[in-house]
Amino acid sequence: MAIAEQQGQMEKLVSLAKRRGFFFQSSEIYGGLQGFWDFGPLGVTLRNNIKRAWWRSMVELRDDVVGVESSIIMNPRTWVASGHVQNFTDPLVECKKCHQRFRADHVKGTHHADDGGEFTEPRQFNLMFKTAVGPAEDSSAQAYLRPETAQGMFVNFANIVNSTHLRPPFGIAQVGKAFRNEITPGNSIFRLREFELMELEYFVPPADEIKWLDYWKEERLRWHLSLGLRPQKLRLRPHGKSELAHYASGAFDVEYEFPFGWSELEGIAARGNYDLSAHQQASGRDLSYFDDLKRERYLPHVVEPALGVDRIMLTLLIDAYNEEEVRGEQRVVLRLHHSIAPVQVAILPLSRKEPLTALAEKTEHALRPFFRTEYDDTQSIGKRYRRQDEIGTPFAITIDFDSLEDNAATIRSRDEMTQVRVPLSELRRELQERLP
Ligand code: GAP
Repeated sequence: MAIAEQQGQMEKLVSLAKRRGFFFQSSEIYGGLQGFWDFGPLGVTLRNNIKRAWWRSMVELRDDVVGVESSIIMNPRTWVASGHVQNFTDPLVECKKCHQRFRADHVKGTHHADDGGEFTEPRQFNLMFKTAVGPAEDSSAQAYLRPETAQGMFVNFANIVNSTHLRPPFGIAQVGKAFRNEITPGNSIFRLREFELMELEYFVPPADEIKWLDYWKEERLRWHLSLGLRPQKLRLRPHGKSELAHYASGAFDVEYEFPFGWSELEGIAARGNYDLSAHQQASGRDLSYFDDLKRERYLPHVVEPALGVDRIMLTLLIDAYNEEEVRGEQRVVLRLHHSIAPVQVAILPLSRKEPLTALAEKTEHALRPFFRTEYDDTQSIGKRYRRQDEIGTPFAITIDFDSLEDNAATIRSRDEMTQVRVPLSELRRELQERLP
């Protein structure tokens, strides 16, 4: 596909997202703010479904992982110990002509078409947002908005070991907001300044680190496939030596082929004992683990899969987006996986007339406890089908005038566009079979 066509796809998706209520520019009525986005009614539901699927697979269906929710603002010594104050930087260059600033690795040559305009030498720009805690605003009050949730797990390592029966290998998971003052946010919700992370810190005996890195890279790839992402658009890319942090013994990116090229979807890294050892040293607290079976004391090593909610949300939307021609008509359809589609079943009375609407409402109320439902009696039936296709609703129930006589309704499938007539009393069972 040509680049222009691919970029066009991205624009169409962003426009659909706005038109249907998935996401909007933050504070748009004031011109927005670069790198910040708001999520509308369908966006919130999609995000919740994604987070629930992640939590279910990473915490609830396992016996070796527990959750935490740590504060966004932490004691600033955390970020000195973790290395973020010193090293969480990107190389920044400035155009000498127009003074616009860029991330050095995001620009090539010059950005002026005519006569050039050179860039300054790169300098390191720290990505952490600063704030002040308490009524004083001097340097003693300075704190940071967390750029990742991971440190919340490391500083609580001893608390978790002491308050549970877990022993390595075990993990601590967290879902929460993170903030990075990215130099060049962009591609809608791909690179944000405020975003949400789903992270697991998995603590293992040192000798088993690579084994667990292999395990988690396969497990995470499997999870992405389970949400319906197309396998040919996904790949695992091992980090080269030059990309690896000095303490890391290995890392993989799960990459997706976005309209703007192959890019990182999720990072999976073997971090050694870098974090626990740094916090042990800086805090003076013993963070080692004593294995009473082997009678040995050690600092566990860590394998970390880290995925952005916004990033996977964008990926799922892009992957699901299809334009099709059906019987001479164009339709846009989001083929979202049933488990995450914001609406699973739409209930549509053929007309807005009584007693059709009463029967349709009653049907919706009966299905609501079991599925994510939506009742819609506005506009023509054709327009309502188009809307449901565009928001990725797998099934629509149409209540028509015959329904009043035969106590049956039509189930229309988003993907096959087939219509089957089903007794109202059988609707729930029929839908449950289709929406496992
Ligand atoms: N604790 C490890 C860590 O934070 P990372 O590779 O910097 O690792 C993990 O981030 C994931 O978070 C990325 O793979 C991506 O999904 C998401 N992510 C990172 N920066 C982001 C940003 N500025 N906007 C949106 N998502 C981001």
